[in-house]
Amino acid sequence: MPTMAQGGRSNFTHSNQQHQINGKISNYDSKANLFARRQKIQHQRKSLPIASVEKRLVEEVRTNDTLIIVGETGSGKTTQLPQYLFNGGFCHDGGIIGITQPRRVAAVTVAKRVAEECGVELGQKVGYSIRFEDATSSSTRIKYMTDGFLLREALLDPHLSRYSVIIVDEAHERTVQTDVLLGLLKSVQKARSRSISEPLNIDHTKANNGSLLKKENAVQGVSILKQHRGRRFTPLKLVIMSASLDARSFSEYFGGARAVHVQGRQFPVDILYTRSPETDYVDAALITIFQIHLEEGPGDILVFLTGQEEIESVERLVQERLLQLPEVNQKLLTFPIFSSLPSEKQMKVFMPAPVGFRKVILATNIAETSVTIPGIKYVIDPGLVKARTYCCQTGIESLIVVATSKAQALQRSGRAGREGPGKCFRLYPESEFQRLKDSTMPEIQRCNLSNVILQLKALGVDDIVGFDFMEKPDRIAIVRSLESLYLLGALTEEYKLAEPVGNQMARLPVEPIYSKALILASQFNCLEEMLITVAMLQVESIFYTPRDKLEESRTAMKCFSSPEGDHQTLLNVYRTANEFLEKSKIGTSKEKAEKNLRKWCKENFINGRSLRHARDVHSQIKGNVEQMGLRVTSCEDDMLQFRRCLAASFFLNAALKQPDGTYRVLFSGQMVQIHPSSVLFRTKPECIIFNELVRTNHNYVRNITRIDYLWLPELAPQCYTLQESESWC
Ligand code: CDP
Ligand code: MG
Repeated sequence: MPTMAQGGRSNFTHSNQQHQINGKISNYDSKANLFARRQKIQHQRKSLPIASVEKRLVEEVRTNDTLIIVGETGSGKTTQLPQYLFNGGFCHDGGIIGITQPRRVAAVTVAKRVAEECGVELGQKVGYSIRFEDATSSSTRIKYMTDGFLLREALLDPHLSRYSVIIVDEAHERTVQTDVLLGLLKSVQKARSRSISEPLNIDHTKANNGSLLKKENAVQGVSILKQHRGRRFTPLKLVIMSASLDARSFSEYFGGARAVHVQGRQFPVDILYTRSPETDYVDAALITIFQIHLEEGPGDILVFLTGQEEIESVERLVQERLLQLPEVNQKLLTFPIFSSLPSEKQMKVFMPAPVGFRKVILATNIAETSVTIPGIKYVIDPGLVKARTYCCQTGIESLIVVATSKAQALQRSGRAGREGPGKCFRLYPESEFQRLKDSTMPEIQRCNLSNVILQLKALGVDDIVGFDFMEKPDRIAIVRSLESLYLLGALTEEYKLAEPVGNQMARLPVEPIYSKALILASQFNCLEEMLITVAMLQVESIFYTPRDKLEESRTAMKCFSSPEGDHQTLLNVYRTANEFLEKSKIGTSKEKAEKNLRKWCKENFINGRSLRHARDVHSQIKGNVEQMGLRVTSCEDDMLQFRRCLAASFFLNAALKQPDGTYRVLFSGQMVQIHPSSVLFRTKPECIIFNELVRTNHNYVRNITRIDYLWLPELAPQCYTLQESESWC
């Protein structure tokens, strides 16, 4: 096969694979004014592949209670179908069309796009709800949300009665939340249709208006009955959307539901492989970015990376290397996109680059199918993805970087051929592609199930093993999770939901271990501290440590660090930032104060974006615990109390120092090490609790606090005995 480029590094080879031509190039205009933009959007909408089958799709949904729609990424499923159904009358009696997404970013960006397409303000007819963020109102009829959000909503409204249609989008991703949701929706759909047929008979006798109700007129009958009794439901329409071509498994799961295929539009994509494996894929990605930028024609670049930290580091490296180029070659703009990116930043990737500039989008696998970014002509794919893995033996879940599946690699390369012929640079040899797994294992088979089990229990599903999962999770994983939920006090000895704690835990929008911490903290009089800590633990990388300013950033971090551990350190950062913000608010505008805070963050090597996210999370969970009636008080200077509360909450993650300086996790027996980023990395206390296990070449634990091991039998007697603890010293 011929090599790709002349000059620079030409380590790529062509492959035989080509995608098929099946459409036209769409225009992209950057200088449109509002009116022109509207017109352009309408034109874009009409030219989407899905537009030609609008009527048919609406009819299919009308005639089928459950419909599976399969269509290539970019065909218009996510943005268009809800609008078609809205126009088709599926909201006429106040029902909502709900669309679930596995990812927050997708829910937000798509809702914004659809609001714009409809010419309405976001949060009115079109809105979104994701954990820690709500942009809906009573007039919202098209509501995008994460699948996890809808699951939580089912806790309050088990029949999901506000929804007339629920569209489960990106079902091929098979996230754990999607899988649980599918099972739940199946039973909600049944329950709602039962509620239609059953009460008809009852009401002939009870409600004296039986003559109005004919069975063949069930839907109308229901809305009439609703006015009288208020407990009748309309049928629930389900649409399952997927970008994978295999609809069979979904169809079988839904009792042979009808599946339709929406034709996509795909131009040829030239696939290039490296000649030999790359030892440093980040470096290889950087070189490839510049090789494309300097040698290839116009078109934006999409790079698939594994997470926020990697994206931010590549972003800095690109900017640094750009400065070394002649000015004429510096017209390259970077745009990150990952799940926890604040929404105003997320939208930037969709804006066209200024004339003469090239965009390089640094994305996690969110850009694989969840969001379609216009203008992409080049894709760089290192072939890696961060995925959840769960070890049944230890009961510990961790995020590790693994190879993508063939299906993922194909989706990624497909992104280059949306608007014209493109190129995909796979940063691995072709022989490695052949060795990839065909598809990804559903997440439910490789994650800690505590959260979903608690949710299901709270929804009244007692028999978890017997629950109608599309693919059953491992039995041992279920047992492990039941056991840890029991130890956390969420379940009784019979594995029934413990009242009220189990219910309270299920309602808080954080993992069970954190909801337990919040509930306990109110008893330990340190809920104020715990709210901040839990909020800070929900966001990635609060500290920003650029490679070239390592020493400076370490010195800055010392100002906040606590000898007791990372939890108090995070608390210090949050409080100092808050004090700074409050002070700078005096005599100035809120915007100016926020700007000052951003500057302060930069000077103190704090990731301003993460801090802001933590503040949002804090305000939401504070609202949640207050609603529950928990008392938000502070332990003031009694930090011992706070550490005891951490021990009482995170006792499952307690570890004891070994003679060689490593640690043994007491509950699971796993050997771990303190991550170098922890403030306790050098001190190495005798006994610790931690919140995160990162598996790289070592098993590292992060977010650590020093505790006294004798607290464990005292505060978690359900897990540790005093006798047992005597053998630890
Ligand atoms: O769901 P599917 O992958 O089939 O397509 P979609 O997400 O509905 O996207 C349809 C088109 O809308 C894409 O071609 C994008 O160019 C455009 N779009 C956009 O411009 N901005 C967004 N935030 C989302 C979609
Ligand atoms: Mg989509």
